[in-house]
Amino acid sequence: MKINDKNSSSSDNNNNNNNKSSDGYQQQCFNVDDFQILAKKRLTPDLYDYLASGSDDEQTLLENSRAFKRWYLRPRVLRPVGNVNTRTVLRFGGNVAMPIFVSPAGVHALCDDEGECATVRACANASILFGLSQHSTRSIEEVAEASSSSSSRSSSTSSLNFYQAYILKDRTRTLLLLRRALRAGYKGIFLTVDSVRFGYRECDARNGFNALPPPHRLVNYDYDYDNDSEYSPTTATIDESDGSCTGVTLDRTYNSQEKQSWDQNSEQMFEQNVSWEDVAWIKEELKEQGKEIPLVVKGIMTAEDAVLAVQAGADVIMVSNHGGRQLDGCMATIDVLPEIVRAVNSIVPIWLDGGIRRGTDVLKALALGASAVGIGKPVFFSLGVGGEGAVSYMLRLLQTELEAAMAICGIERIEDIKPTHVTRHPLYDGMSFRESSIETVLRSSL
Ligand SMILES: Cc1cc2nc3c(=O)[nH]c(=O)nc-3n(C[C@H](O)[C@H](O)[C@H](O)COP(=O)(O)O)c2cc1C
Repeated sequence: MKINDKNSSSSDNNNNNNNKSSDGYQQQCFNVDDFQILAKKRLTPDLYDYLASGSDDEQTLLENSRAFKRWYLRPRVLRPVGNVNTRTVLRFGGNVAMPIFVSPAGVHALCDDEGECATVRACANASILFGLSQHSTRSIEEVAEASSSSSSRSSSTSSLNFYQAYILKDRTRTLLLLRRALRAGYKGIFLTVDSVRFGYRECDARNGFNALPPPHRLVNYDYDYDNDSEYSPTTATIDESDGSCTGVTLDRTYNSQEKQSWDQNSEQMFEQNVSWEDVAWIKEELKEQGKEIPLVVKGIMTAEDAVLAVQAGADVIMVSNHGGRQLDGCMATIDVLPEIVRAVNSIVPIWLDGGIRRGTDVLKALALGASAVGIGKPVFFSLGVGGEGAVSYMLRLLQTELEAAMAICGIERIEDIKPTHVTRHPLYDGMSFRESSIETVLRSSL
């Protein structure tokens, strides 16, 4: 993990576990954004920028969280709320302590040495769904193992992990990764469809953050299929003519410094000639595996694509713009949710991520028709300030906020959240909004 020594206090430095002091975050973090403020002090500037930034002008990054402030809750009073409970059963997502999950996002080990193993344990203990990225820094199998050992410690927790796939030029490798995930016990698949190329994040170019910092690796590509009787023999060649990356090691794709931002280097692995047939292809593959594995199509931003995704076999539509890291200038996810709900909500559940930072954001998204919401950057920031413990702490803060928001809105159960609990204030449409507190604080600390 990369720590910003200059900004670490001496008491932090006396602590074990990579300068992470639980007192530090417990005394300084009272909401999700506080973890970002602390992470900015503790992580090196290039890593912080890599995690926090959006593409191009960062319009969409900022909009994602600002847009929640344009939706208003409609509280109902004098209703019994003595037993507020965030637990719910997600269609295709199981029985969870709250309808908040960790969105799949690569390279957790940049923030904490245990990487995704730390995060998955926090999720298992919180009894929520965890998404593992294909671009993780701990392997599919290691993370499954960490999750089940954590779950078995407590009878009240259960592991509910989904694996996130990208479609690679190398279709065989795409399927091998999926099969490994299913064999390791992952219960569902996120198929990310918004990343045929990677968004350009200027701060990475400015910082020269153009290769995955050693010793970190995208370990899922290192798997030795030839020594696994289930898969052997496989072809392991690199096709020099078209740059496709069929090989034992894919080092040159993500450790090369060809592009200005390191994950743009992975582009050569990704299939750019994709279509809805590929979604159907993945769905067929899941069916062939003989298990009822739900397919969540992640990265849908229009009603048209939501309909096409359902036709191609999606079990769940996930409204996402990759946290503002891909196409800049597209709308906030919460603002496109209504059109997608109108198009497909009667057929499939809709999940959403992007800018969720408060329990009230969760409540607004659920009232607008989402069944569950994901968080991305807050997971990195909490991992970076205190590893597994801080992720758990951050999740508890969000859950407490959600419970309070539900109670004050007169809602006892997740199933009782309705469209009438949210509205859009007509006066605020088209007006600019004052900066959120996080933006003010971050700007003043630059
Ligand atoms: C550093 C970072 C890495 C990410 N990596 C992936 C990834 O590998 N696959 C993917 O589908 N989404 C990835 N995402 C996007 C997240 O899954 C999620 O959509 C987004 O972070 C949600 O917005 P939020 O950060 O505002 O909560 C990544 C996001 C971040 C910040």
